[in-house]
Amino acid sequence: MKKALAVLAAVAVGLSLSLSSVAAEKTLAERHGNAWPKSANGYVVKDQCKACHGDYAKLAEKTKNLDPNPHKSHLGDVDCQECHKADKAKPELTCNQCHKFTIRTKEAAK
Ligand code: HEC
Ligand code: HEC
Ligand code: HEC
Repeated sequence: MKKALAVLAAVAVGLSLSLSSVAAEKTLAERHGNAWPKSANGYVVKDQCKACHGDYAKLAEKTKNLDPNPHKSHLGDVDCQECHKADKAKPELTCNQCHKFTIRTKEAAK
């Protein structure tokens, strides 16, 4: 009986651990839920993102502590989903098609 309880407890712990790691890995679309923009023709465009998040100038201000700042570059007004993929938890740095950047905070870079 004791043994059975211990097994149950271990299963419960394992379950909650795997649940929390799933939560950490939620995709960007999952994290938005119903807020994720929909489009009639199947394409989500940056203007839909900007309606909630503001333009690149505003975003660049939010990430000004990052080096390089992903929202301020010679790429200009690119589609958000170049980096922010709906089905990924973390953005992919499209810059690295050409560069080899590791984004860090400015403090860490010093
Ligand atoms: C209806 C409003 C709304 C729309 C449309 C929207 N978002 Fe969001 N987004 C939010 C809210 C609310 C949050 C959570 C609070 C925050 O971080 O601003 C969020 C969070 C984020 C985050 C931060 C996630 C994290 O790691 O914390 C990213 C990146 C993001 N959105 C990108 C996008 C992109 C790209 C689009 C367009 C495809 C988009 N959002 C469209 C409301 C929206
Ligand atoms: C070149 C790649 C790239 C592009 C393009 C891009 N982002 Fe980001 N974005 C990032 C990175 C990298 C971060 C930092 C993520 C982190 O800190 O984990 C970020 C962070 C964010 C955040 C969270 C900001 C905060 O509060 O810290 C939001 C919201 C966001 N992006 C929205 C957008 C929207 C909307 C667009 C399009 C208008 C966009 N991004 C375009 C790479 C990009
Ligand atoms: C399609 C290829 C391409 C992409 C994508 C790209 N760059 Fe560049 N970038 C270049 C080229 C080419 C130069 C000019 C040559 C040079 O100076 O190395 C350059 C120059 C730069 C420079 C000045 C030179 C240096 O290396 O210090 C910075 C900073 C920079 N890019 C940042 C970015 C950031 C941030 C992104 C993503 C948001 C990005 N680039 C995306 C091709 C690209």
